[in-house]
Amino acid sequence: MRTQVAIIGAGPAGLLLGALLHQAGVDAVIVEQRSADYVLGRIRAGVLEQTTVALLEQAGVGQRVQAEGLRHDGTELAFGGTLHRIDFQALTGRHVMVYGQTEVTRDLMQARAEAGLATIYEAANVAIAGWDGATPTVTFDKDGVRHELRCDFIAGCDGYHGVCRASLPAGAITAYEKVYPFGWLGVLAEVPPATEELVYANHERGFALCSQRSRTRSRYYLQCPADDRPERWSDTAFWDELRRRLPAAVAERVVTGPSIEKSIAPLRSFVAEPMRFGRLFLAGDAAHIVPPTGAKGLNLAASDVGFLAQALAEFYGERSEAGIAGYSARCLARIWKAERFSWWFTSLMHRFPEAGEFGARMQRAELDYLVGSTAASTALAENYVGLRLI
Ligand code: FAD
Ligand code: PHB
Repeated sequence: MRTQVAIIGAGPAGLLLGALLHQAGVDAVIVEQRSADYVLGRIRAGVLEQTTVALLEQAGVGQRVQAEGLRHDGTELAFGGTLHRIDFQALTGRHVMVYGQTEVTRDLMQARAEAGLATIYEAANVAIAGWDGATPTVTFDKDGVRHELRCDFIAGCDGYHGVCRASLPAGAITAYEKVYPFGWLGVLAEVPPATEELVYANHERGFALCSQRSRTRSRYYLQCPADDRPERWSDTAFWDELRRRLPAAVAERVVTGPSIEKSIAPLRSFVAEPMRFGRLFLAGDAAHIVPPTGAKGLNLAASDVGFLAQALAEFYGERSEAGIAGYSARCLARIWKAERFSWWFTSLMHRFPEAGEFGARMQRAELDYLVGSTAASTALAENYVGLRLI
């Protein structure tokens, strides 16, 4: 087998890269270790920046997100028992789109299938080689048979635990990491959302987030201990704790129901530098992780592959290596801004046991300042909608 670009991983980064390359007339094969259903079953991100929606449009899959996505012109911060609205539209002229990662993935998978493009699911023992020379290869087992895929470039879109970053020799990469002392317990339920917009709540019992997937499907999160397990939380315990952490006016509007999904995500900040090694590129969670508070992970994955698709299109179309050479620095400039914002917003909204009462009062003082200052609210809004990251 031979292709121009071998993409490892069929998450949002890999699938979007495949679609953008197809639009640019560049051949790609995607190799994914899981089944398509498994990939679709992962409940993750929900908020898309306008630049991400624009990339989906460029990739030829913008229709459903425009028709079914929920446009949000602002968000609510909850603290001290009340809501404080951050008006994205008034402060930045931009909005975000609430549209689940599952739907983005489904749209990209469907477009890929309709265009007859190759995705190899359930590929086992995926290995990469030759990226430091002229002839990269990807090898994998499929249905008990070993296959070799030769290519010009490898795109490592295989997430935080993937094989691509792990294949680099020690010393080739510098990693920066911060692990937070808590996780997010998430519940998905077929109930109408309590509020029109998302609510980010700072509470003495811990952070809570009211999000949504549609007018009939809600997604809620609670800060929980890093070593907690979802089995320890009955649905009733979850709903009770959620209501405790929300202002009374929101709590009384929470509609409860059986959870469709319940899981715990650890919170981490992570950046690996650089993102290009000869003919291997890292993109998305393979190269960086942000804590989900700023809703940036999927958006960063999309912007990485936007830059990569452009660089590869230039390479094949114009025989120019400029885009390839600049890929890592271009991505990292944006990534560090998103890392800063995600770390700051996480630090502001969560309970840090070791910070004590003084830490809690500082958070409260900063939140008061934030909602009282147009400059500070604008900075938050610009980061959240993605304007500050460009
Ligand atoms: P992944 O989605 O991890 O995809 C990588 C793919 O590679 C997977 O399909 C995996 O099976 C495959 N793979 C791994 N190893 C191999 C291998 N060896 N061989 C072949 N394939 C392999 N982001 C936002 O922007 N907004 C949000 O609101 C948001 N909320 C979030 C909420 C939660 C609870 C979590 C956990 C994350 C959230 N994120 C959010 C982050 C977002 O989900 C990720 O940043 C996004 O999934 C990254 O996409 P990716 O394609 O880079 O990686
Ligand atoms: C989600 O809907 O899953 C979601 C929304 C906003 C975030 C994180 C996750 O900041």
